[in-house]
Amino acid sequence: MYKIVSIPGDGIGPEVVSGALSVLNHLSGKHGLKILIEEHPFGGASYDLHGEMLTSETLEACRNCDAVLLGAVGGPKWENLPHEHKPEAALLRIRKELGLFANLRPAKVYDALLEASSLKPDVVRGTDFLVFRELTGGIYFGQPRGFDENRGWNTMVYERYEVERIARLAFEAAQKRKGKVISIDKANVLEVSQFWRNVVHEVHRDFPDVELSDMYVDNAAMQIVRNPKQFDVIVTGNLFGDILSDIAGMITGSLGMLPSASIGRIHALYEPIHGSAPDIAGMNKANPIATIASVAMMFEHSFCMPVIAMEIYQAIEAALASGFRTADIANPGDRIISTTEMTEAIVRHLDA
Ligand code: NAD
Ligand code: IPM
Ligand code: MN
Repeated sequence: MYKIVSIPGDGIGPEVVSGALSVLNHLSGKHGLKILIEEHPFGGASYDLHGEMLTSETLEACRNCDAVLLGAVGGPKWENLPHEHKPEAALLRIRKELGLFANLRPAKVYDALLEASSLKPDVVRGTDFLVFRELTGGIYFGQPRGFDENRGWNTMVYERYEVERIARLAFEAAQKRKGKVISIDKANVLEVSQFWRNVVHEVHRDFPDVELSDMYVDNAAMQIVRNPKQFDVIVTGNLFGDILSDIAGMITGSLGMLPSASIGRIHALYEPIHGSAPDIAGMNKANPIATIASVAMMFEHSFCMPVIAMEIYQAIEAALASGFRTADIANPGDRIISTTEMTEAIVRHLDA
């Protein structure tokens, strides 16, 4: 039996998680899997109910399950709370508490969506890279941090073990892919990046079959839109990974397409890379594919069922190939469908 904790969160979170759970329930029926889904409040939704963004009940539930599925947190209603009480701080806390140091963000282009990207089809066709974003360190967590009337400050710091473990995962992944890792940093300016680069190269000695190169983050942002096919595996720190993966979103057509897996030694949490999209929340307009594909990553990484993961990817691909489009991936003239209609289309294709 698999126990999954679902934390829909805020904004479009509940809408996209509901779509992903429909897919999960359908698959568990089809394959006779025993899956128990337990829902818990998180983020602004939890604050409104309990006065806390992350209750000890929700955290305990996340500690005692096989995988967590998260929608998104945050929104205008809570953005003026003190920094440490914002929904985003709760998200960082859950990642830290669960030890989710590696955030895997695959950017893969579906042929049916070549026209949805803001880039030329020839540039994006065939793009398939995987970002390993360090998730529990760097400037997101470094001390000291704060601001007063005249100054604001944060600290970008990496410990050796933090760089070693994410680098190792990236090299291992590359061995199963095209054997190429690009480490992205700002070593020309930041000492912490020079340290990152040195450690990544030390770890590389254990992976002579993998090709390693370095790239500065400003150049990387440009290279991702100039020629995204040059990338296989990217390994980078928390802040750079956050920014570069949103850029990768536009290659695939929309932020609503990009899933992610946040993995630690013990726990795992699956979340789309996008946020709570307050501009379309509650309108049944959001693209559920990023969250549905996050369930595919769950089958791959937490349940070791790559065949079911593949079924999900193929159903997404087939629904897109049949012309189903939410607003974010539609071109002029396309019929636009809702979150629930897209979910239903994917569920139908699971049986096709
Ligand atoms: P966002 O990702 O929520 O939205 C950016 C743009 O992309 C918006 O126009 C939105 O409508 C669109 N978009 C995002 N996901 C979509 C989807 N599935 N389908 C269709 N369109 C989609 O980023 P933002 O506006 O900068 O942030 C909004 C809130 O979300 C903030 O409070 C932010 O802190 C939070 N946030 C949370 C997470 C998370 O929980 N993992 C991630 C990013 C941002
Ligand atoms: C993401 C988000 C989060 C991050 C925020 C909401 C804390 O942007 O998951 O990409 O920066 O990690
Ligand atoms: Mn982000």
